[in-house]
Amino acid sequence: MSSDRAQTPAASVSSELFRQACGRFPTGVAIAAIAGSDGAPHGLTVSSFTSLSLDPPLVLICLGHAVTLIDRFRAAEHFGLSVLGEDQRPISERFARRGQNRFTGVPWHSGEFHVPLIDGSLATIECAVDRRIAAGDHDILVGRMLRAHVSEGRPLVHWAGKYGRLGE
Ligand SMILES: Cc1cc2nc3c(=O)[nH]c(=O)nc-3n(C[C@H](O)[C@H](O)[C@H](O)COP(=O)(O)O)c2cc1C
Repeated sequence: MSSDRAQTPAASVSSELFRQACGRFPTGVAIAAIAGSDGAPHGLTVSSFTSLSLDPPLVLICLGHAVTLIDRFRAAEHFGLSVLGEDQRPISERFARRGQNRFTGVPWHSGEFHVPLIDGSLATIECAVDRRIAAGDHDILVGRMLRAHVSEGRPLVHWAGKYGRLGE
């Protein structure tokens, strides 16, 4: 395959088609969270969580540059991930909404590395930031998994812009 970028056809995919094509790939839903310098929890809903490497144990999330919390995540040394179960859709919706304290009324606890973790999640994961990579209008945040807890249950699924549950 040629690596000559001059021969690559100009991009011709509209934002709408990009969204539709990527939306055909179902994902789970997680809450990515960090503690502020005062210990206050901050988090947002992400579907970009992906396992990256087993040895060393790396995962990644992608954060939009326009996300309000981007500077806090850029300054963080650790972050937490809570993988949501199928009954936690209201938490996903809450953590994707602007202009409120998202953790108010949501049961959570602080992990061993002081990252906020949502109670009752299918998995909680604590990561040390391994590296940050700017890519387009997002940052890729790579985390080294330091601790994880898992529970039994079924995941909340996001697909084509909608929430769903796994079929049998
Ligand atoms: C199901 C779902 C998945 C999302 N995944 C991501 C993601 O992976 N990365 C991201 O930056 N934003 C993602 N978002 C959007 C953020 O949650 C949302 O833009 C953000 O919380 C808006 O508030 P803020 O800018 O005040 O933080 C997702 C939203 C939803 C509903």
